[in-house]
Amino acid sequence: MNTKLLNGNQLAIEIRKEISKEIEKNILNKKKRVPHLGIILTGNNRSSMTYVNSKIKECQNIGIKSSLIHLPVGCIEKKLLEEINKMNQNPLIDGFIVQLPLEKHINQDKIILSIDPNKDVDGFHPENFGKMALNIKSFFPATALGILTLLERNQIKIPGKHTVVIGRSRIVGRPISILMSRRSNSGNSTVTLTHSHTPNIEDYTKQADIIIVAVGIPKFLKGRMIKKGSIVIDVGINSAKNEKKILGDVDFYSVYGKASYLTPVPGGVGPMTRVMLLKNTLIAALNRKDEKN
Ligand code: GUN
Repeated sequence: MNTKLLNGNQLAIEIRKEISKEIEKNILNKKKRVPHLGIILTGNNRSSMTYVNSKIKECQNIGIKSSLIHLPVGCIEKKLLEEINKMNQNPLIDGFIVQLPLEKHINQDKIILSIDPNKDVDGFHPENFGKMALNIKSFFPATALGILTLLERNQIKIPGKHTVVIGRSRIVGRPISILMSRRSNSGNSTVTLTHSHTPNIEDYTKQADIIIVAVGIPKFLKGRMIKKGSIVIDVGINSAKNEKKILGDVDFYSVYGKASYLTPVPGGVGPMTRVMLLKNTLIAALNRKDEKN
C-alpha cells in the first residue's frame, strides 16, 4: 500500500502564517500590544529544556513575546506557586505554561490548579479540561489540537471512524480521546482508550481505523498490530540510546507500506504541538479584557 506521510513541518509553516496574519490584523493594526507567553521551567530535565527552547524560538519567529522563569533543581513548591501567582496577576502576560514533568517533591495537581484558567494556554486546568469534556469553548491541549488539525487539513474524516488511543496521559491520550469522541465534525469517532493495563492491545489496534500512539515506548506499535489502510499517528519523542536520533512510538518501517497515512518522527506531531501553543496564546491575547494596551 502507498503510505502517505502527514507532514507536520509543512502544515505548521502554513498555520504560523495564518497566526502571523491574525496578529497583524487584530492586534498590531489595532495598536494593541503583541501577545505575551510566560513559561515556567523547573529543574534540569534535558528534554524539558529542549522543548522550552524551541517554544521560545517559535514565539520569536512569529512575533509573540515570551518570558522564561527558570527555577533551579530542588526548588520548593512554595516558590513555584509564588511565580505562578505573579504570572496570574501580571496583566502583561496573556497566557503561560508550567513545563511538565515536575520534580517528584512537587504536587503537580496543586500546581495546575493554581494556574488562572483564563491564562492556561496548555488547557490542563480542570476548568478547561472539564469544559473540553462538555464540548464548551476552552483552551484545548496543544498536542491533541495539533493531531486534530493535522487530520482535518489533510482531509481525513474522523466521524464514524474507530479510533484507538494508546496511552491515557493528561497531556495527550486523555484529551485526544475526549476530543475525538465529542459531538463535532472533528469528533464523532468511536474511541477506545487503551493503556498499560489493557491486555492484548493488538486485539484493539487491529480493529482501528485511526491509531494514536502516545505511550513513550520506542517502536511500540508494529506493522503486524494494525489493519491494512489504517491511519497511524505517532506522538512519541524518545531519545535513542547513545544516539542523537529521536525515535517515535511507532516501528516506522513495519508500519510504512501497511498504513494509509503515517506521521513521521520527527516532523509529524511535534511541530503541530508547538504551533498550537502559539495559537492558544493568540486566543488568550484576543480574549484580553484590557483592550486599550
Ligand atoms: N511536557 C510535555 N508536553 C508538554 C506540554 O504540552 N505542556 C507542558 N506544560 N509540559 C509538557
